[in-house]
Amino acid sequence: MTTLTQYLKDHSSNPAINDVITTITDVGQTISQLLRKGALADILGEAGNQNVQGEEQKKLDVLANDLLLDALAKNKNCAGVASEELDDATPANADGSLLVLFDPLDGSSNIDINMAVGTIFSILPYQRQGQTCNNSDFLQAGSEQLAAGYLLYGTSTMLALTIADDVVMFSLDPDSGDYIMVNDEVKIDAETSEYSINSSNYRYWRAPMQQYIDELVAGEAGVRGRDFNTRWVAAMVGDVHRILCRGGLFTYPFDTKYAHKAGKLRLMYEANPMSLLIERAGGGATDAVNRILDIKPTDIHQRVPVVLGSQNEVDYVKQLHLEHDET
Ligand code: F6P
Ligand code: MN
Repeated sequence: MTTLTQYLKDHSSNPAINDVITTITDVGQTISQLLRKGALADILGEAGNQNVQGEEQKKLDVLANDLLLDALAKNKNCAGVASEELDDATPANADGSLLVLFDPLDGSSNIDINMAVGTIFSILPYQRQGQTCNNSDFLQAGSEQLAAGYLLYGTSTMLALTIADDVVMFSLDPDSGDYIMVNDEVKIDAETSEYSINSSNYRYWRAPMQQYIDELVAGEAGVRGRDFNTRWVAAMVGDVHRILCRGGLFTYPFDTKYAHKAGKLRLMYEANPMSLLIERAGGGATDAVNRILDIKPTDIHQRVPVVLGSQNEVDYVKQLHLEHDET
């Protein structure tokens, strides 16, 4: 039986990364416990509302954000933190060698219906040790990530992690509080017949994405010659977890629903860490044309179209976009 602590000792050459991951996964345990209490924890409801005792109630995504921020700010290896929930990065310890980015509670609309949510994190090197960090220090391509992962708070709490060339998974033992390794080499098949998309946005997509989904829906009767199956958790962390477990294609494509936004998902808190996991598990991750991990960010909150998962489907989506753009 391998615990997370043992794995980090054996596989990471950087104690600072181990330390930061331990801080994140410790907070993950607390978030997991709060979620287990659910409606009883007196933590649901809109931020800003007061509970019966007249205390301010915090929405769970705000609480998760605060817990992570506080814990990481105290970590001597962490030079700064950027959260999907906060406009600007928060400087932590200038002598730290790492920057940490997170989506504290991905899929938070699932909380109130007792469905899966998660915490996504990304760790980047800090280039200006000794000086106070600012937003621009975080603007590094996803390929620079030193580590990435997520905690999925589902029927059990799981951790998917990459600190080296591979992806590993742990399950949180609620009795001992240890993360126990359950998969030492996560791999995604290149072939799949399962896909994930919010089809209600169909009319806002680009023509090649409409064509792709039309072909999947046509199934055996169409050019693909076989049937496909849809799954949509409405929390990226849940859909990516399923893909790491049994393959599939996930996309939140470019759409024109929200003017001036390239897509819904955030490059730095969602697309980059998930793309690193997916690529290292043998899958692909693109914005439909470019490799996501090669995108040079210009804003810590920028959004990006995302197509990721089983390599053959990702390649086909990209091919349809390239063919369309050439004509
Ligand atoms: O963080 C954004 C997010 O909640 C993702 O986790 C999820 O994949 C997506 O939005 C769900 O979007 P929609 O509300 O369109 O189903
Ligand atoms: Mn999210």
